[in-house]
Amino acid sequence: MDKLRIIGGHRLSGRVEVSGAKNASLPAMAASLLTDKTLKLDNVPAVWDSATMRRLLGELGAQLQQVKPDDPHRFEISVPSVRSFEAPYELVKTMRASVLVLGPLLARHGRARVSLPGGCAIGARPIDLHLSALEKLGATVRIEHGFVDVQSDGLRGAEIYFDNVTVTGTENILMAACLAKGETLLGNCAQEPEVVDLADLLGRMGARIEGAGTRTIRVAGVERLEGATHSVIPDRIEAGTLIVAGAIAGDEIEVVHCDPHHLTALLEKLSEIGIESEVGEKLVRVKGGAGLRAANLRTLPYPGFPTDMQAQLMTLLTQAEGTSLVAETIFENRFMHVAELNRMGADVGLDGRTAVVKGPTPLSGARVMATDLRASACLVVAGLAAQGQTLIDRVYHLDRGYERLEEKLARLGAEIERLQQ
Ligand code: UD1
Repeated sequence: MDKLRIIGGHRLSGRVEVSGAKNASLPAMAASLLTDKTLKLDNVPAVWDSATMRRLLGELGAQLQQVKPDDPHRFEISVPSVRSFEAPYELVKTMRASVLVLGPLLARHGRARVSLPGGCAIGARPIDLHLSALEKLGATVRIEHGFVDVQSDGLRGAEIYFDNVTVTGTENILMAACLAKGETLLGNCAQEPEVVDLADLLGRMGARIEGAGTRTIRVAGVERLEGATHSVIPDRIEAGTLIVAGAIAGDEIEVVHCDPHHLTALLEKLSEIGIESEVGEKLVRVKGGAGLRAANLRTLPYPGFPTDMQAQLMTLLTQAEGTSLVAETIFENRFMHVAELNRMGADVGLDGRTAVVKGPTPLSGARVMATDLRASACLVVAGLAAQGQTLIDRVYHLDRGYERLEEKLARLGAEIERLQQ
C-alpha cells in the first residue's frame, strides 16, 4: 500500500490545473447504458473511481476505447447490447456510486441487479430513496442475497418527491425517467453542478429535461436516446482542496481550469476566516493568510457548504484564532479525520454531529492513516502546514478521487512524495 511523505513548512506558489469532476464523470459514464450509440467523453479524471466504473461498464457489455492511447481523459463508450444485468459485490464494495447503473440499466433493459452497497466509513448511506422512486416509476424491487433486483416491463412517468436531498438518487432517477413513458416530475432534487452536468449530457443525447439545477426537475420521456459528445465539468472538490492548501501554505497560488461559480460557499467562508481570493474566468487566485479568524460551518446540499470540503476546511480552522463550530448535517460519521488531526497537534472535540475546533494550534508532522477519500485530503493539507515529516498511510483512499494530487502539490513547491510499497 502506497504512502505519502510530506515535509511541511514549504510555501506554495504558482499555478495548478484542476482535473475533471469525479462525481460528474461517474453518472456520465453510466449514461452510456441508456443508448446503443456512442458517447464521447472528455475531461474524465484519471482516478480509481473512474477506472472502477469503466470496469463495471465493461462487465455489463460496454466497449470502451481511448481516443488517444496516452490520454486516459478522453474515451468513447458504447453498449451495443447488454451482456449482464449485474453489478457484482466486488465492484460495488469498492465504489458505492456503482449504484448509478441501476436506473439506466432498468430503463433500457428492463432489469438490473446491483449488490447492496452497505455501510461505509462515513455512515450507513442507504439507497432507499433510489428504490422507492424506481417503484413509483413502475419497477418491482426485490432484495435478496445482498442484492437489489429491479425489474419492469416498461417504466411510466410519475410524480416523485425525494424525502431527503440525494445526489446519486436524483441522477439515477433522472436517467431512468428519460426513457419512461410520459412525464416525470421530480421534487426536492439535488441541485449539485454534477446533476446539471448529467442533465446537459442527457439533453445532448435527446432527453427532454427542464429544471436541472433547481429543486424541481421535469422530464418528458422519449423512446430512445442517441450518442453525444460531452466534456465533464471541473472538479469543484479538487479545486476547493487546492484552494485550502493555498490558504494554509501558500504565498499565492492560482487554481486554473475550475468553475468559480461552483465554489461560492467555500470562497465566502474563506473570506470570513480572513483568506482573500480573487476570481477570474475559470480561475481562483488565493493567498495564504496570517491572523485567521474562527468561523462556524454547516455542511448542506448545494449551494450550501459541501460535506466533501468539511475535513479540509477543518484543517484550516485549526490555524484560526478562536473557537469554530463545524456541524456535519449530511453524513452521521464524517469526523474520522478528527482523531488524526489531534494526533498532529490540533485541538478538536466532538459533540454529536458538531466538531469544536480551538485554535490556533501549531501542527506537527506525524504518522497518520487515511480513513476515507476526503479525510485523506485533509491530512495532506495538514501535512503541508505541519512542522516536520507527515507520513500518510492508506493513500488508496485519496487515489479514488484525486488525480496525482502529490504531483500537483510538488509542482507548487511542496515537499511531498509517494512511497510505493
Ligand atoms: C454524493 C457524492 C459524495 C457526496 C454526497 C453528498 C457522488 C458519486 N458522490 O454521494 O461525494 O459526499 O453526494 O454531497 O456523487 N440517503 C438516504 N437514502 C438514499 C440516499 C441517500 O437516506 O436513498 C442519505 C445519505 O445517507 C446521506 C444523504 O442522504 O445522509 C445524502 O446522500 P447522497 O446525496 O445520496 O450521497 P451520494 O449520492 O451517495
